[in-house]
This record gives sequence, structure tokens and C-alpha cells, in this order.
Amino acid sequence: MTENTLVLFMSKNGASKAYATEIAKRLNLEPIALKAVKKQDLSGCDTLIYCAGIYISKIKGLKKLKKLTEKHPVKTIHLFIAGLSDDSAETIAKLKKDNQADFPEPAPSITYARGTFDVKKMGLPTRLMMRFLHRILSKKSDLNPEEKGLLEAIDTPVYAVDLTKTDALINRL
Ligand SMILES: Cc1cc2nc3c(=O)[nH]c(=O)nc-3n(C[C@H](O)[C@H](O)[C@H](O)COP(=O)(O)O)c2cc1C
Repeated sequence: MTENTLVLFMSKNGASKAYATEIAKRLNLEPIALKAVKKQDLSGCDTLIYCAGIYISKIKGLKKLKKLTEKHPVKTIHLFIAGLSDDSAETIAKLKKDNQADFPEPAPSITYARGTFDVKKMGLPTRLMMRFLHRILSKKSDLNPEEKGLLEAIDTPVYAVDLTKTDALINRL
């Protein structure tokens, strides 16, 4: 089942790396950072699992993944995405809508789980951006779940990685 499977990730705040590490461990594999993937890693690969976070509604590294799979086609792609919104059908629908143009072929399955967010651990430019974003979102009346999640997390750090969320994907393979 797993010899032709590759687990890739791109992670800034650590959540997607934690999910990729758990998925790979359960498949007896090593996760590989998307930035570090080599041609030989992809040779014979037919199932690709990609773990990444949402940044300003976009799945980190998705364009790069798409290019990679255009060069090295695979049979199946699974996306495991970390963000701050609730794990709901609405979140997944929005995720699809916002990222559809960058989806690799064949159409990937999507698993969503909550990630981590601690403004104090971010660099100065991101902290300043978050302060600005907080001001904007505080004035908005009709926040969507993504905006609501971000606003709350700017005030209160979130450590919501839940490795049991990988069960569904593992059972599907
Ligand atoms: C600059 C920035 C923008 C973000 N934008 C979103 C967003 O639009 N929607 C969301 O659900 N989470 C958003 N997040 C939260 C990340 O998805 C969360 O930190 C996740 O854990 C990131 O994955 P990583 O930990 O693997 O880097 C954002 C975080 C940062 C730092």
C-alpha cells in the first residue's frame, strides 16, 4: 500500500509538519519538505499526500505542487490542510473555492484539520500585519468562519493540532 506513496509538506508554523510526520509514521515513511523533494523521490510514486497550511485563504505551496505533478504525474493526490477555521463543510467548501485554480490533477481529496497560531512566535513583519488585520476584522460585521478564526487567534494563541484527524485519511488509503 505504501511503497508507492510520498508524503510531502510545507509548514511555517509547524502544524502541517506535525500532521505529515504522523501520516508518514503510520505508513512507515519519512515525510519530505516540498522544497527538498527530488526527482528520484517521485519515481514510481503513484499516491501523493500533501500537507500544508492556509495563508490568506490560499493553500501554501499548492501552485508548486501542481507544477510538480504536471512534470511527474501520479494516480492519486490527497491534500491534508491545516487552518484556523472550524472543521466544517462550509470551511471545506470555501477552501475548494479559493484554491480551485491551483488544484493539481487528478482532482485531490481534501482533509481539513485545525493548526497552530501564536502571534508572539511570529516575526515582526507578520506581527505588524496581524495588528493591521485585527483592526480591519474588528470593524467587520459579517465575518466568515475563516475571518472569525483569525480574529480570535490574534487575541488568543491556538494550539489545535489533533493527530487523530489523520485517521480518516489513513483509513482511506
Ligand atoms: C499570515 C497568516 C495568514 C493566515 N491566514 C489564514 C487563513 O486565511 N485562514 C485560516 O484558516 N488560517 C490562516 N492562518 C493560520 C494558519 O493556517 C495556521 O497557522 C496553520 O497552522 C498554518 O500551517 P503551518 O502551521 O503548517 O504553517 C494564517 C496564518 C498566518 C501566519
